Amino acid sequence: MTRILVTGASGLLGLNLCLMNWDSHTLLGLDRGKLHDTPFELIPGDLTDPQTASRLLHTLHPEAVIHTAANANVDLCEKDPAGAQRLNAEIPGILAEAAAKASIRFLHISTDAVFDGANESPYTETDTPNPQSVYAQSKLLGEQNVLSANPAAAVARVNFFGWSLSGTRSLAEFFYNKLSAGQPANGFTDVHFCPLFVGDLAQMLIGMLEKDLSGLYHVVGSEALSKYEFGRRIARQFGFDEGLIRPISVQQGGLTAKRSPNLRLSVHKLSTALGQPIPGVSTGLTQFYTQARQGYPQKMRSYQQGVGSDKWKVESRLTTDNQQLTTND
Ligand SMILES: NC(=O)c1ccc[n+]([C@@H]2O[C@H](COP(=O)([O-])OP(=O)(O)OC[C@H]3O[C@@H](n4cnc5c(N)ncnc54)[C@H](OP(=O)(O)O)[C@@H]3O)[C@@H](O)[C@H]2O)c1
Repeated sequence: MTRILVTGASGLLGLNLCLMNWDSHTLLGLDRGKLHDTPFELIPGDLTDPQTASRLLHTLHPEAVIHTAANANVDLCEKDPAGAQRLNAEIPGILAEAAAKASIRFLHISTDAVFDGANESPYTETDTPNPQSVYAQSKLLGEQNVLSANPAAAVARVNFFGWSLSGTRSLAEFFYNKLSAGQPANGFTDVHFCPLFVGDLAQMLIGMLEKDLSGLYHVVGSEALSKYEFGRRIARQFGFDEGLIRPISVQQGGLTAKRSPNLRLSVHKLSTALGQPIPGVSTGLTQFYTQARQGYPQKMRSYQQGVGSDKWKVESRLTTDNQQLTTND
């Protein structure tokens, strides 16, 4: 059992990571007051407070930190480059340095979006990034700051899907919310990615800590598909009408930040290091579906400060045609 500090405990990744591992590890979830009564310990704090990094590490004595907190909204970063720079680039370096000084393992979460998407073949960890948005630039700088401040740290470039606190954070939830309301949803036919179910991602991240990996790893699913096809797969999994997913190009989407068309990433390095195959989309979608049937999304939302499950039912239907514009990364 490892004592792990998880930043971004209310986020899509952080909350799932904590909820799925609190019974096998001691998880301390850093939270800005969004959560209550979670089965794991909540630690209040804001990372933009200059004292937070050292205070956390010196008072909590974690054995490891998984740093998920970020501004992960690609279009919002475009509107607030200075904020993105602070949270996504500078703070990871400060935390990584504090962890190195205290001999605490550090696992930083980055993104597949550091690449421009021009490669025909899957990107490996040795390929040169070429970020196309403020978000991607800030995340790439975050990776570099972490690894120069703390060469023993690990950096995971991820892409994932799952249920979130708000019910609207992930692309999978966007499609689910639309389809379950019988509404059409746009899916990009010319943007490819390798989504990994968040439960699988959480397990890989814990595995990376247990193996004491350091350096850069691609931690995505082993299967590439278009966002359009992903929407159709969700429809099929839940028994919704696949015809509701409308094929459009990313240019028709009217997004603020530029997106990379081909985010196929090789998981060979990760698979070799962990000694296990990396799951594709199918098993992840089955788990996403099973969680819905078991009431996991409602249970998750019961941990939200001041919001009951009835309010969530209303909120989850307040999705718009532009939802794909506002879901994360
Ligand atoms: N979602 C994806 O598919 C995807 C893809 C590629 C990479 N990533 C990366 O994966 C990581 C997790 O993403 P996510 O989707 O889980 O993000 P998310 O749902 O937007 O969660 C972000 C978390 O960061 C916290 N946070 C923001 N500012 C903070 C601050 N000043 N102090 C403390 N905490 C703060 C948020 O707290 P509040 O709730 O209080 O705002 C929230 O818990 C990020 O590093 C992201 O760049 C995500």
